[in-house]
Amino acid sequence: MAVTPDTATVRIEDGAGRQSADIAIAADAHALSDQLKAMRERLFPPTAQKTLRAFSSGEAARLIGVSDGYLRQLSLAGEGPQPETGNGGRRFYSLADIGALRRYLADQALAKGNTSKARIYLPWRDEAAGEHLQVISVTNFKGGSGKTTSAVHLAQYLALTGHRVLAIDLDPQASLSAMFGYQPELDLSGNDTLYGAIRYDGEPRRLSEIVRSTYFPGLDLVPGNLELQEFEHATPQALLRRQEGHDIGPLFFARIQAALTDVAKDYDVVVIDCPPQLGYLTLSALCASTSVLVTVHPQMLDVASMNQFLFMTADLLGVVREAGGELNFDFLRYLVTRFEPNDGPQAQIVGFMRSLFGGRVLTAPMVKSTAISDAGLTKQTLYEVGRENFTRTTYDRAMESMNAVNAEIEALVHAAWGREKRG
Ligand SMILES: Nc1ncnc2c1ncn2[C@@H]1O[C@H](COP(=O)(O)OP(=O)(O)OP(=O)(O)O)[C@@H](O)[C@H]1O
Ligand SMILES: [Mg+2]
Repeated sequence: MAVTPDTATVRIEDGAGRQSADIAIAADAHALSDQLKAMRERLFPPTAQKTLRAFSSGEAARLIGVSDGYLRQLSLAGEGPQPETGNGGRRFYSLADIGALRRYLADQALAKGNTSKARIYLPWRDEAAGEHLQVISVTNFKGGSGKTTSAVHLAQYLALTGHRVLAIDLDPQASLSAMFGYQPELDLSGNDTLYGAIRYDGEPRRLSEIVRSTYFPGLDLVPGNLELQEFEHATPQALLRRQEGHDIGPLFFARIQAALTDVAKDYDVVVIDCPPQLGYLTLSALCASTSVLVTVHPQMLDVASMNQFLFMTADLLGVVREAGGELNFDFLRYLVTRFEPNDGPQAQIVGFMRSLFGGRVLTAPMVKSTAISDAGLTKQTLYEVGRENFTRTTYDRAMESMNAVNAEIEALVHAAWGREKRG
């Protein structure tokens, strides 16, 4: 590579001779983008959308919290939504059917005056009773600490257990959006991410116009892509303009919260997948949050990096508080990820964290499992892949661990609403 002083162009030397670097890189980007498009069209033809599998009646019963026998009884009596019947009379329900069953059972319980039972079948929050929207940020600036994996499984678990969930992809790398079948560079255009609702210039869009429904009933998505990164550049400029006396609207830390008010009434829980950096986006997400999950992979380097993260977060949130930002979390929990129980040093680090932070470390760790990483290869979660695709013990162990983590978080959400533990 050489810079010619007279023209100030950067040139790249390759077999075909010299080329200006911007043109060469742009050519590579175009070539790659064409190939990605072609690959994607082979893998996901435009007509083939991601779909969700059906659930066996046993799974449906467990999700709703009734016995399989009771569901069979309902189906024999022709009451409520009816299952599909497969080979050997096996009954299957779609997640939409499971949602309809919840409503059916909740209505029946209400007719008998049993409100607490109705709420177990259909756990939607009651705004009038002061049950506020839960906004949970999944964060840590350590790359690969399991933020996206935890966020997507939590969002799906909450939808499977009957909550109305909004997942927000706040990472310009858009891994969460990819899990929902989006190729952000191809499927989205300008202002299709949260940035569209929090930008300083132009007309910000309403968040309700940006939210997309997904193939997962009860779970909506605000996708992400590279444009989110603009918030990191635009914020310092906006702060300067404000110093010059211009009105810039809410300060950066209040902008995500302000955007959320547009859709709050439609959801019980918002799950935000934060980028692996402590910038304005993450700070704004933290300030919009009622609760925080810090994902930690229990290795010494990761824990040391988390230490830095905690110091910086505390400092920055202190600055935000002095500037008038309100910060009160219902809960902050450390979530141990990719845990290998037979690894001595890892177990030691988890023990060390528990002795330091006590109950702020979730009791259930998320174990490392090939079921999760393998499902991830085809952009699927553990809840999407069927048990038949794995060795049973592998699948069951991963599912047990994942459900234990998410049930613990669900209980914290319900506790924040002043509800008792789910039975
Ligand atoms: N419990 C687990 N078992 C096995 N693999 C896992 C597990 N959790 C996460 N992984 C894998 O680890 C990798 C990193 O996880 P993930 O993308 O969730 O981290 P992240 O914190 O979101 O990363 P980034 O900082 O880049 O956003 C992924 O390939 C994921 O499939
Ligand atoms: Mg991620």
